[in-house]
Amino acid sequence: MTLPEFESAIFAQTPTSSDHYDSEYFTGEWRAEGNNYNLETRRAIEASNPQLIRDVFRPTKALDLGCGPGALMHLLWELGVDVEGIDFAESSRQLATPEVRDRILIGNTYEHLKPANAFDLVISREVLEHLTVFQVKKTVENMVRMTSRFVYCTTRFHPEPHSLIDFTTQFDVDPTHITLLNKDFLRLMFVIEGCRSRPDLEARMDWGNKGRVLVMEKVPVSLGG
Ligand SMILES: C[S@@+](CC[C@H](N)C(=O)[O-])C[C@H]1O[C@@H](n2cnc3c(N)ncnc32)[C@H](O)[C@@H]1O
Repeated sequence: MTLPEFESAIFAQTPTSSDHYDSEYFTGEWRAEGNNYNLETRRAIEASNPQLIRDVFRPTKALDLGCGPGALMHLLWELGVDVEGIDFAESSRQLATPEVRDRILIGNTYEHLKPANAFDLVISREVLEHLTVFQVKKTVENMVRMTSRFVYCTTRFHPEPHSLIDFTTQFDVDPTHITLLNKDFLRLMFVIEGCRSRPDLEARMDWGNKGRVLVMEKVPVSLGG
């Protein structure tokens, strides 16, 4: 993708409406291999992930941005992690367990709904591929703003990017997978917001070796003046 092609492509993107993420989206039968967002289905899929999150990051206060119906929040809550969530879909709260429902705030990933440095771990899993590039940029900025230390992201990346700015879609898996970025491009967005890569923690979180994980750590950046 050339820069002019990238420019045209990002201006042509349309954000997905929150209405799309209804109970059919989360609990319907449309996903491959019986995957859905029921707690017990997620418990099986997540396996040791919640424990790993707790052991690797040792969070005092965590945020799950784009939390959906809060299954990961619930599993972290069971492990004693103080976790909050943000999602723009009203159905997220409706489908969440009573234990975490009131910890979910309805809003956009890029809205300033929480104070700066309010969490020492900001998680965002399988969300960025649902956003436009403009939304990803603002969301990255917001994640870094809200964390005092770690950002842990999983997303789908472009499988064969030819340049840093190449991005693609993945409508066969989910019609809302509108932005699969080059992994280096997403990493670069975090770096220029003031984060450094943590390949050691990334390797621990990406135990399945799927290459979908980014772990970044916020560092104080001097702007001079
Ligand atoms: C595939 S689900 C992932 C849910 C959860 N993070 C997980 O891994 O199970 C994508 C989630 O992103 C949320 N989402 C998409 N765009 C959003 C936006 N602009 N602001 C807030 N949430 C958004 C959707 O409502 C949905 O819950």
